[in-house]
Amino acid sequence: MKIFVDTANIKEIEELVSWGIIEGATTNPTLISREEGDPKDIIKKICELVKGPVSAEVVSQDAEGMIKEARELAKIDEHVVIKIPMTVEGLKAIKVLSQEGIKCNTTLVFTPMQALLAAKAGARYVSPFVGRLDDISSYGMRLIEDILTIFDNYGFNTEVIVASIRHPMHVLEAALMGAHIATIPPKVIRQLVNHPLTDIGIERFLKDWEKVKKR
Ligand code: G3P
Repeated sequence: MKIFVDTANIKEIEELVSWGIIEGATTNPTLISREEGDPKDIIKKICELVKGPVSAEVVSQDAEGMIKEARELAKIDEHVVIKIPMTVEGLKAIKVLSQEGIKCNTTLVFTPMQALLAAKAGARYVSPFVGRLDDISSYGMRLIEDILTIFDNYGFNTEVIVASIRHPMHVLEAALMGAHIATIPPKVIRQLVNHPLTDIGIERFLKDWEKVKKR
């Protein structure tokens, strides 16, 4: 399972890239709105740091507008992937853009059928939002299971990006299910590292090493 970072914060990305585990990044208008500066400069910088797929989202509602925006965003860097919302207009845009060789990530996917339609239109990635389903008392990870089964049944090469991840258990379940990618907020990536027994173990080893040094 590839790990993408779900943020537009350059400092966070810089730090996490230095850990050697980040293979891509996803942004959305909300994440970009939390950072200072020109969105295009932010996307460019993220691409330079991550050197892998970086999703940048269109905000137009009609296919024509989405396509125009997407072509501009794609010029920023070879790593840019266009995030397009799962609507009828979005499907039309995905069809055109994928035929041009511009990779699309269909976002705001909440049902397996939306994912199937996105894959048929030519999306390179789909982003089902698990946390937002959990928020409304639906089982978000069940959606991932269903999409993976459908894509596997018919041999789609569209990759599933598990999105709207809120805690380490989402990441664990995604990996157990064989999801292609998890896009994870920095806070949750940090939570994946820690275990109290690791800390206690280090403390104990260092204490014992003090005895060795006194020999
Ligand atoms: O990748 C999509 C993600 O950013 C949405 O997360 O927490 O706003 O549901 P959230």
